[in-house]
Amino acid sequence: MNTAHFDFSGQRILVTGASSGIGWEVAQQLLISGAEVYALGRDALALHKLEAQGCHVLRADIGEAPQLATVLAGLPVMHGLVNCAGISILEAATEVSAAAFDQVMTVNVRAAAMVAASVAKAMIGEGVAGSIVNVSSQASLVALDDHLSYCASKGAMDAMTRVQCGEWGRHGIRVNSVNPTVTLTPMAQMAWSEPSKRDPALAAIPLGRFAQTSEVAAPILFLLSSAASMISGVSLPIDGGYTSR
Ligand SMILES: NC(=O)c1ccc[n+]([C@@H]2O[C@H](COP(=O)([O-])OP(=O)(O)OC[C@H]3O[C@@H](n4cnc5c(N)ncnc54)[C@H](OP(=O)(O)O)[C@@H]3O)[C@@H](O)[C@H]2O)c1
Repeated sequence: MNTAHFDFSGQRILVTGASSGIGWEVAQQLLISGAEVYALGRDALALHKLEAQGCHVLRADIGEAPQLATVLAGLPVMHGLVNCAGISILEAATEVSAAAFDQVMTVNVRAAAMVAASVAKAMIGEGVAGSIVNVSSQASLVALDDHLSYCASKGAMDAMTRVQCGEWGRHGIRVNSVNPTVTLTPMAQMAWSEPSKRDPALAAIPLGRFAQTSEVAAPILFLLSSAASMISGVSLPIDGGYTSR
């Protein structure tokens, strides 16, 4: 059980992908920690629940650049950002399609870059030091069958993290990525439920189990917090040791 406690009182934090899975859990933990949470997603029912809990909700398809820009333009300056929205489309490497590749890169990389740029620009303009966490994956570090476009997108996300760290560090903005293993969410159920895929993946994790969303949210909150004040530019595996061998 996670016993870390953080205090984000007085801080505005934007979470994309807040309507499900890891992003949902991050939004919950941030609310508990006193943050003013800006929750972005598409699912109206989930957004309604988040609003009832006290989040500011933003509804947009982040793959649609004009729609995303409109939503971002209405935001006040943030103190933190969690770029968590993401998709995977499974295809064998011989069958990779232009449409799926473009869709995955658009949502996982382009949109994350646009959101971070807008948030960082406002931070810099207002002289606010902040923290950005990009939710990448172990897929940036190791090969996963049928995940070509997804692995490429998460490799790009780690590269993007390093560039943002370099450019924005002098403004007091830290940028890190987290790289979780299979985490028990709707996305993972789609990719990893079949025993022929699940069992070898589990066997490759020294801790012998997949991650819970709370086990991914806690390191994200750590990276957002002042406890990580000298940490920037890292890609942090949250993988029970998967990428150690
Ligand atoms: N689960 C895993 O095993 C795992 C492992 C490593 C990394 N990750 C990464 O963690 C992040 C969250 O994954 P998850 O497992 O929590 O997935 P999930 O439960 O499927 O949630 C995905 C989230 O992304 C949002 N989203 C997707 N496309 C969007 C779009 N075009 N516009 C706006 N929002 C969009 C969804 O919003 P709506 O539902 O409202 O459309 C949802 O909130 C992803 O970046 C994923 O790559 C996941």
